[in-house]
Amino acid sequence: VFGKIVRAPEDPILGVTVAYNKDTSPVKLNLGVGAYRTEEGKPLVLNVVRKAEQLLVNDQSRVKEYLPIVGLVDFNKLSAKLILGADSPAIKDNRVTTVQCLSGTGSLRVGAEFLARHYHQLTIYIPQPTWGNHPKVFTLAGLSVKTYRYYDPATRGLNFQGLLEDLRAAPSGAIVLLHACAHNPTGVDPTLEQWEQIRQLMRSKGLLPFFDSAYQGFASGSLDADAQSVRMFVADGGECLVAQSYAKNMGLYGERVGALSIVCKTEDVASRVESQLKLVIRPMYSSPPIHGASIVATILKDSTMYKEWTLELKAMADRIISMRQQLFDALSARGTPGDWSHIIKQIGMFTFTGLNSEQVAFMTKEYHIYMTSDGRISMAGLSSKTVPHLTDAIHAAVTR
Ligand code: LMR
Repeated sequence: VFGKIVRAPEDPILGVTVAYNKDTSPVKLNLGVGAYRTEEGKPLVLNVVRKAEQLLVNDQSRVKEYLPIVGLVDFNKLSAKLILGADSPAIKDNRVTTVQCLSGTGSLRVGAEFLARHYHQLTIYIPQPTWGNHPKVFTLAGLSVKTYRYYDPATRGLNFQGLLEDLRAAPSGAIVLLHACAHNPTGVDPTLEQWEQIRQLMRSKGLLPFFDSAYQGFASGSLDADAQSVRMFVADGGECLVAQSYAKNMGLYGERVGALSIVCKTEDVASRVESQLKLVIRPMYSSPPIHGASIVATILKDSTMYKEWTLELKAMADRIISMRQQLFDALSARGTPGDWSHIIKQIGMFTFTGLNSEQVAFMTKEYHIYMTSDGRISMAGLSSKTVPHLTDAIHAAVTR
């Protein structure tokens, strides 16, 4: 019965890893997926995560019962506090509802399905470009996807005027997807002054912010600094949605741990929203898994472990920042044609190099360097040892 099924293409991001795994070259380098690697090119499990897991294993009172539909209550509270801030007025007023979801993607999907069922405006504006999975998640949830201008290839920076014009032209009430920090794939974020203008425009038009926060702590190394955009929108008393992921900032990629928070106007509304979120979740996956959320809650509620986490997080962020400098310095020393200053100006896990798909294909074929075809490279996959190889490849690609 399945004989006529057409083979689907690989995922544009995760498919890069599939191709990389098939390559037998000893110099191969995976700069595709946004996953942190050490200087030795190895995945990293944070020490504090190992400690938390040990505590969990040693605790004989722990059982494997189902979590509630909304997930681990402690985890939800701590996650809201982490993104909104300990003194958030919305938390004090109990007008935030948080549900544990399957990392960032699952949080976006649950939020989008909720909006598709209960919100009056079904159009969501996403930045151009954005993470490749965004349009798919929102379309399949039943929302209609439109784009707003974001990136200016000429300056390799923000197209702020284009962004404002497009949001100004959006229908009142439309949903707007915003990357909380470290925009993926461009590494280009609005300044705080620009965020404030975006906030004023969106609030004046009644546009509904839906934040994707996948890199809190990764952009600047500070959890608070990287949450400022979200907190500005919450401080004005208005509504918003926030999808949080612990994949990158706690290195819990495969544990699939994240949270969706919906900030409402009143406590009563928040509790009704939560009751509807449960109806979204139950038929989708019943209830979320327990292990990853327990790790996060263990770390967030213990001040010593929390501190240790922030230090390890800062070390990851700093290594990425240092990779930016090293790559920029190497290209400058090499005299590679072009202005490469965007490598040190952009922030977060990725550099949007400006290399085109042909140049990317050339680098993969000749240098065994794997990256997404839009020219995005994961700085977290680079190390001092591999910078010269990447520099050679970029130099060859732009001087062909
Ligand atoms: C990425 O953009 O590389 C990451 O967010 C991983 C993913 O799931 O695509």
